[in-house]
Amino acid sequence: MQWTALAAAAALFANNVAAQQMLRFACSQLVVERTDPLVNPGMKYTPHLHQIVGGNSFNVTMDPSADPAQKSTCTSCSFVQDKSNYWTAVMFFKHKNGSYIRVPQVGNGGPQGKLINKGGLDVYYIPSGKVTAFQKGFRMLAGVASNTDANKVAKSNICHRCWTSTSEATFVGGAPCSGSDTVEIPSATNCKMIRQTIIFPTCWDGVNLDSPDHQSHVAYGQGSGANGGGACPSTHPKKLPQIMYELMWNITSFDASMRPASGNPFVYSMNIGGAAAHGDYVFGWEGDSLQKAMDNGCTLNQACPKAGLTTQSDSAYSACTKTQQAPESVDGWLAALPLGEPAIKA
Ligand SMILES: *[C@@H]1O[C@H](CO)[C@@H](O)[C@H](O)[C@H]1NC(C)=O
Ligand SMILES: *[C@@H]1O[C@H](CO)[C@@H](O)[C@H](O)[C@H]1NC(C)=O
Ligand SMILES: *[C@@H]1O[C@H](CO)[C@@H](O)[C@H](O)[C@H]1NC(C)=O
Repeated sequence: MQWTALAAAAALFANNVAAQQMLRFACSQLVVERTDPLVNPGMKYTPHLHQIVGGNSFNVTMDPSADPAQKSTCTSCSFVQDKSNYWTAVMFFKHKNGSYIRVPQVGNGGPQGKLINKGGLDVYYIPSGKVTAFQKGFRMLAGVASNTDANKVAKSNICHRCWTSTSEATFVGGAPCSGSDTVEIPSATNCKMIRQTIIFPTCWDGVNLDSPDHQSHVAYGQGSGANGGGACPSTHPKKLPQIMYELMWNITSFDASMRPASGNPFVYSMNIGGAAAHGDYVFGWEGDSLQKAMDNGCTLNQACPKAGLTTQSDSAYSACTKTQQAPESVDGWLAALPLGEPAIKA
């Protein structure tokens, strides 16, 4: 995302100058595997493939009483104090000959400067006014992995943008999930990169750290987009930092000659369209470091002594990886997608 556009959008919507300050940092891939401790705890070879970033205590089972900040010995994200886990589906390209290959990912720097990810994604924490940071044991899910109906997705929360340039420094369009952004994955042959945005709810019931569907303890507030979120409903009165995932899929090498005659050749790992895009979050910041970061206006991916935040080099966070707990081939040309039965349970 283009930083100044975001700041402008935040300034426009927010009633507090703090909304212009936010964390925005790179996370490299910890592992790409079929696990999902939130929706399918304990299961190996879950219905579909995920990419996971963050603390290396990530596991098939993650008991909410076990603190990732204590159990992790490293994190694949920029801030040393952030042992949270963030995960999403991965995108595949379907060749006209029927084979699939995972779409490569890159960081999205923009004017902030290059954000280097080995795979992975960029994470934002955007406060609007005074926010209550997530607590130990908190988790949530944005989006619905089984959804095939683009009309059931709020474009202001989950969207895609076609970039016709591969240059990270090139400004393309306004605030995320505005304008011509789409719920479905763009398939125009002049797109070189696809930016995917997942914006999480910003209102919490103040009681439950999770809920059976991993969604009903949180809610979207008024307004829309990447501005920290507006007023919260009385059922979910506590304002949270707005988490946003930003993913850059580099589709440059998948030229028209490789594409099937019809249909979108880009699919998420559920093998259904962009309407099924989703993101999972398990909180794991050390102590009250996230609350302090929000309260003290810590900025982007910069060290922030007031909150005790320190950063690590991209080579250090990129070195934090795990071996697959559900081993299988996920790279190179594949005869079929790695899918379970049924494929689309979140
Ligand atoms: C992961 O889970 C397994 C099985 O529950 C357990 O034996 C192992 O210690 C866990 N690993 C970590 C890093 O928590
Ligand atoms: C499809 O094309 C790719 C790229 O040329 C190739 O590597 C792969 O083996 C082909 N798959 C089949 C089934 O022919
Ligand atoms: C995107 O992919 C193309 C083709 O493989 C490659 O030349 C280019 O360097 C990649 N861009 C980035 C930013 O990684």
